[in-house]
Amino acid sequence: MILTRLNLTNFRNYKKCSVKFDKHLNIFIGNNAQGKTNILESIYILAITKTHRYGTENYLIRRDAEQAKIAGTLRINKIPKDMEVVINKQKKIVRVNKTEIRKISDYITNMNVIMFCPDDIAIIKDSPQVRRNLLNIEISQLFRDYIIYYNEYNKLLKNRNEYLKMLYINNLSDERYLDVLTAKLIEKAVLIYQYRNDFINKINANISSIFYNITGIDNLTVKYVTNVDFENFSTEEITAKLVDKFVKCRKKELQNGSTMYGPHRDDFYFLFGNDDIRIFGSQGQQRIALIAFKIAEIFIFKEIHDTNPILLLDDVFSEIDNKKKNKIIKYLKDDIQVFITTTDLKNINRSLLKEAKIFEVHAGNLVEKVGI
Ligand SMILES: Nc1ncnc2c1ncn2[C@@H]1O[C@H](COP(=O)(O)OP(=O)(O)OP(=O)(O)O)[C@@H](O)[C@H]1O
Ligand SMILES: [Mg+2]
Repeated sequence: MILTRLNLTNFRNYKKCSVKFDKHLNIFIGNNAQGKTNILESIYILAITKTHRYGTENYLIRRDAEQAKIAGTLRINKIPKDMEVVINKQKKIVRVNKTEIRKISDYITNMNVIMFCPDDIAIIKDSPQVRRNLLNIEISQLFRDYIIYYNEYNKLLKNRNEYLKMLYINNLSDERYLDVLTAKLIEKAVLIYQYRNDFINKINANISSIFYNITGIDNLTVKYVTNVDFENFSTEEITAKLVDKFVKCRKKELQNGSTMYGPHRDDFYFLFGNDDIRIFGSQGQQRIALIAFKIAEIFIFKEIHDTNPILLLDDVFSEIDNKKKNKIIKYLKDDIQVFITTTDLKNINRSLLKEAKIFEVHAGNLVEKVGI
């Protein structure tokens, strides 16, 4: 898929911006704090409806403005599709082809993006929450049902935790309603496990060879960590395992007022052979492992949606040596649309510059640069 046009109104430091993109390579060059990341962020929000950055969403609206609007036209196998996200202080409205879409799950499967940014290192270093969040976003872009199940799961989880607390505080012994909530929670948990398991398997089918091509090092894998072993088991078997876990920990759960097992407690990490990359890998290797993970995703998105996702590369090349950079660039094939930001064109390979549409970014303005 290709984003052919983008229009911003009162988004971050852009008052008004209207721009047409190249179908393959688009490069944004500018000094710090000019609006390069803001452009990629706007494209990310157009797809996911949420920012990839920290902080409250009110900052997405330009200072002193009432609402921000991001609009763009996609082309998917030659068919155009208008996407729009309007953010005001109270709510967010999303539209496809000018029609408002009420369910986010119906919106976010329309446009697929993969973001590469310096903050990605948090995926390796930070808490499991960050990694779960990544899994949820990526799988939600692929399968509409995943986000529906996930939201239902979270609602049930919240209800169940509240009910556990209530039983404990009031010293009640009738646990029939808890059993109902538990059964419903398990049903959704199994579905989430299956989606995640499938996604991780698909990543593992590609990541090792990608990492090897870039670094010459073999054996990178991703390991999903869960307290319920579900790999290679049927739905019935996973359900039975979970039921058993829940029976065994009921007393503890009542005391803690929280649900001890399920996908909300899971994690994943990167392994070199048997060694955890957090402990064993260099900083550069950790970065490349994440890049390999995301390149693996390109293959998955293409396989499932029959079109390439849009790649957003925020200042990623500045940290990588030239040899590896050249190898990564080989994955940016002609039929993939790529957006790259940099403070210095020296960080970008000359062969890419020749093909690219280059924009200079200055204080929330984009100017196309001609003749490099
Ligand atoms: N809500 C807002 N209203 C107005 N300006 C904003 C808003 N949010 C952020 N900005 C401004 O946007 C600019 C940051 O833009 P951005 O993060 O895109 O910079 P950048 O060009 O990527 O810089 P760097 O090279 O440092 O990463 C800052 O000047 C910041 O003050
Ligand atoms: Mg930036």
